[in-house]
Amino acid sequence: MTDESTQQRVDTGIPGLNEMLNGGFFSGTTNVVSGESGTGKTILGSQFLYEGAKKGEKTMCIITSEESKSIIREMKTSFGWDFNELVEKGFLTFVDITDPSLRLQKSVEIAPSELIKSFKKLVESKIEEIKPTRIFIDSIEALFLAIESNYKLRTLIDDVFGVFRKHNVTSVITVGAMYNLDTMVEYGADSVVKLGRIRTGNNLQRSVYIMKMRGSATSNEVRVLNISDNGMAVLKQSPYLE
Ligand SMILES: Nc1ncnc2c1ncn2[C@@H]1O[C@H](COP(=O)(O)OP(=O)(O)OP(=O)(O)O)[C@@H](O)[C@H]1O
Ligand SMILES: [Mg+2]
Repeated sequence: MTDESTQQRVDTGIPGLNEMLNGGFFSGTTNVVSGESGTGKTILGSQFLYEGAKKGEKTMCIITSEESKSIIREMKTSFGWDFNELVEKGFLTFVDITDPSLRLQKSVEIAPSELIKSFKKLVESKIEEIKPTRIFIDSIEALFLAIESNYKLRTLIDDVFGVFRKHNVTSVITVGAMYNLDTMVEYGADSVVKLGRIRTGNNLQRSVYIMKMRGSATSNEVRVLNISDNGMAVLKQSPYLE
């Protein structure tokens, strides 16, 4: 039940974003971060995990492609965050679905919907084993790009998101602007945070707005998203004003 008076809010870890979401993500919901390449999706999800892990929560990061394997290194060089230490202390667990030892892709010929079925099973058993409060999937494209029928895609997205909801884990899932996959993933999500870039004159600024949040009021403003050596933060100002 999405009852505002009883459902808890989860601190996103991004200063200024909780306020835009009227207090943070709802606990146990599936939250999509959508935007073009380089808009800050991986940083947002990593900071969300970092926030929980720092407070002693159990968190899980699901890696779905070669590109997302470098999160540990990137978070260290960008912000000095030591994800290895969090792993050693048991606050962060990585699940790399490209790891051949998991045998998720038994052969390259495996049907895409079979791959998703195995993914669901693997993730579910990892959730039951680790019992994380937060999950970050970077990103969902690799899993769904090969699904050709839109109808099938919608059903499979709901299936996968259903696993997180069932286990009451608050999740952040990134999706890039690719074909119409991002649109389909956005429909399945409980909330969508949209990241972008806005050009004014010769200047580029990062932007953020809340596309939707089921069961909650949100800010309707576009705001400046700032990334610095301290991490990501939402500023009060609009990227459209001087
Ligand atoms: N310390 C920092 N200060 C300012 N900007 C930074 C810092 N560290 C990283 N960035 C910027 O953040 C951007 C990357 O953000 P991120 O990797 O989260 O994007 P993404 O949306 O996940 O991209 P992709 O679609 O390629 O995966 C980089 O392009 C870099 O310019
Ligand atoms: Mg990324």
